[in-house]
Amino acid sequence: MVNHITDRTALEHIITNMIDTVTESKEEIVRITENSANEYSLIQTELKELTQKIEFHIQESERLDLLVKAAKNKLVQVSKKFHIHSEQEIREAYELANQMQLERFLIQKEEMASQQRRNDLERRLLSLQDTMERADRLVSRVSVVLNFLRDDLQQEYSDMMKKQEMAISVFEAAERERRHLAREMHDGPAQSLAHILIRADLIEKTFDRRGKEEAFAELHELKRLIRGALVDVRRLIYDLRPMSLDDLGFLPTLERYLHQTEEYTAIKTRLNYRGNRARLSEKLEINVFRLVQEAVQNAIKHSKTTEIIVNVEQALDVIHIHVRDHGVGFVPSMIGQESFGIVGMRERIDLVDGSINIDSEIGKGTVVRMSIPIL
Ligand SMILES: Nc1ncnc2c1ncn2[C@@H]1O[C@H](COP(=O)(O)OP(=O)(O)OP(=O)(O)O)[C@@H](O)[C@H]1O
Ligand SMILES: [Mg+2]
Repeated sequence: MVNHITDRTALEHIITNMIDTVTESKEEIVRITENSANEYSLIQTELKELTQKIEFHIQESERLDLLVKAAKNKLVQVSKKFHIHSEQEIREAYELANQMQLERFLIQKEEMASQQRRNDLERRLLSLQDTMERADRLVSRVSVVLNFLRDDLQQEYSDMMKKQEMAISVFEAAERERRHLAREMHDGPAQSLAHILIRADLIEKTFDRRGKEEAFAELHELKRLIRGALVDVRRLIYDLRPMSLDDLGFLPTLERYLHQTEEYTAIKTRLNYRGNRARLSEKLEINVFRLVQEAVQNAIKHSKTTEIIVNVEQALDVIHIHVRDHGVGFVPSMIGQESFGIVGMRERIDLVDGSINIDSEIGKGTVVRMSIPIL
């Protein structure tokens, strides 16, 4: 049990750690995507500015082309008619042509640099786009993993735990049952037999010492003890498994059981049955019978009632059972850990997917209501 709890916390710890790590990774990827998106929009702005700059450079360079052409023409004309133009004019035409060419060269150089930068930026944009798309895909995959860890795995895990707990309580219930039977055997038939043996010894002695009459009286008492022991043994066999359950089914067995209860106790019983009398599955018959048996036993043992009423209503898909007494009643929320009857009933009800409600009030008696699906 201790190991079971340790394993459980260790496993829960591992799952929580996995969830934390995957959540962190997801956040990291989201951060990368955000950074990429920021860089993407910065580059887009820069690209826009760059395109405008390049356009300006192109216009500028076209304008300078014209100017260079004009300056060159002028230079050609001035040089051809150098006898009309002064040396000063020729030098100025030459310098203007030079100047224009230099300016055009500079603007073209700038334009080339801008083009180069634009190509780089466009490449970077493509790679960023690729990164963002990959990150997006990764985030959705990681989300699937997270959902699996958070919901599916947790659900799977808690189902597994429930099954394990149920298996453990079935074993514990079987163990309790054995302990209970051992106690009953010890207190009932075993003691009666020991008593009978002593009495049998006594008969021999009585016959020798006090004669036939008194020995017969002893024999009579012995028979009474043997009958009592037989009743005990029969009751125990019944507790182990009422044989009529397999042969006759739940309802006749319940009728017999209540009849016997009247015989062994001073309590009257009443069975009201409504609905169809179709037999239940083997698993249900024993479980439903045990549930009613425990409720009836509790009424016999604890309620001080004079009458126990059992109502059974069997529909096609569900069977409803009420066990009612008008005895002393109790507070169901106050029952301690050492009471296994009601705990066992709840475990059994879980096994058959049914529901149970125990309604009790001090001085007013108790009703145990159970509904069990029978399909
Ligand atoms: N019909 C009832 N009337 C009065 N008290 C009841 C009734 N049913 C249960 N109780 C109270 O609830 C307690 C718990 O019942 P439960 O069946 O779990 O244990 P138990 O009968 O004492 O022992 P066990 O069933 O293990 O032999 C009882 O001890 C009793 O005090
Ligand atoms: Mg009980």
